[in-house]
Amino acid sequence: MKAITYSAYGDPVALELTDVDEPKIGPDWVMVAVKATSVNPVDWKLATGGMDGALDTFFPVTPGWDVAGVVEQVGPAVTTLEPGDEVFGYVRKDAVHGGTYAEKVSAPIRTLAKKPVNSSFAEAAAIPLTGLTAFQSLVHSLDIGPSDTILIHGASGGVGSFAVQIAKSLGARVLGTASQANHDYLRDLGAEPFVYGEGLVDRVRSEIPEGVTAVLDLNGGDLAVSPDLLAEGSAGRIVSVIDPVVKEMGGEYVFVTPDVDDLEELAGLFDDGTLTVEIAETFTLADTQKAWELNQQGHTRGKIVITVD
Ligand SMILES: NC(=O)c1ccc[n+]([C@@H]2O[C@H](COP(=O)([O-])OP(=O)(O)OC[C@H]3O[C@@H](n4cnc5c(N)ncnc54)[C@H](OP(=O)(O)O)[C@@H]3O)[C@@H](O)[C@H]2O)c1
Repeated sequence: MKAITYSAYGDPVALELTDVDEPKIGPDWVMVAVKATSVNPVDWKLATGGMDGALDTFFPVTPGWDVAGVVEQVGPAVTTLEPGDEVFGYVRKDAVHGGTYAEKVSAPIRTLAKKPVNSSFAEAAAIPLTGLTAFQSLVHSLDIGPSDTILIHGASGGVGSFAVQIAKSLGARVLGTASQANHDYLRDLGAEPFVYGEGLVDRVRSEIPEGVTAVLDLNGGDLAVSPDLLAEGSAGRIVSVIDPVVKEMGGEYVFVTPDVDDLEELAGLFDDGTLTVEIAETFTLADTQKAWELNQQGHTRGKIVITVD
């Protein structure tokens, strides 16, 4: 089968479209014929070797953790999925090797759910990693509700655009940072936009003198001022997906976890119209290098999708 691979860490890394052996499926795994995947910064961060201390890596690596596709074959212990099911998922395995930038991926069933009924495969592939990150941060960690005013650092990217919509659906007032070019986009999603960087605390306090009740950090650049944004009584209600140093502020560092129930929640939010997917650009598997270069510029609005024929 065709797959993108790299044979050594590099920055930039050399990506190749090659023929590789089909993956094996374990008793509680399924084989998915991949229709689409999406680019996450972690894909190229892993390829630089930046996470070598955290995850076992076996070369050649096929990158990619997001998938939308069709179940082709199931292991003998699988009871929840069958061939022909249209699924989506965040296929993070214990080691980095056989990812989703390929015609097929083998996936533990703990990483997959039925895809939203109303979504295209491209839209479905954009949701899992970033949608789960937003959902788990807002629902499980911050327990956001109607009495909250939350500020999201980096609200216009993959995680941010889902976080704004999910926080709104939970009833919160949502503020989000982005460059001026994305302010109308944030307003459309339901957030009050602020420019990030120096002076952020003054800009926010001039609108909301009492401060916000929670902060979600998706960028790192303004994490240090987060405690100054919080209202009295909300100390420590900070989640960062970037920097564990947030724990020294009394907050929580979140690393997204594959979770079937949370994926099903996200599928439901898409199907009932709560969640929309912004696709910045779509690439073919052969153009993965270009897709990564675009994401590496750091200004993706929504998600970059890679389609697999
Ligand atoms: N721990 C975890 O489990 C986890 C999970 C998912 C992602 N992450 C990490 O979280 C980060 C965001 O992921 P993503 O998928 O959302 O990335 P992304 O889509 O590539 O983020 C791009 C967005 O970042 C915004 N941005 C750039 N510089 C900014 C700044 N200084 N302040 C605020 N926003 C800024 C851009 O807005 P403008 O174009 O308007 O500047 C753009 O919309 C990445 O570092 C990723 O690795 C961690």
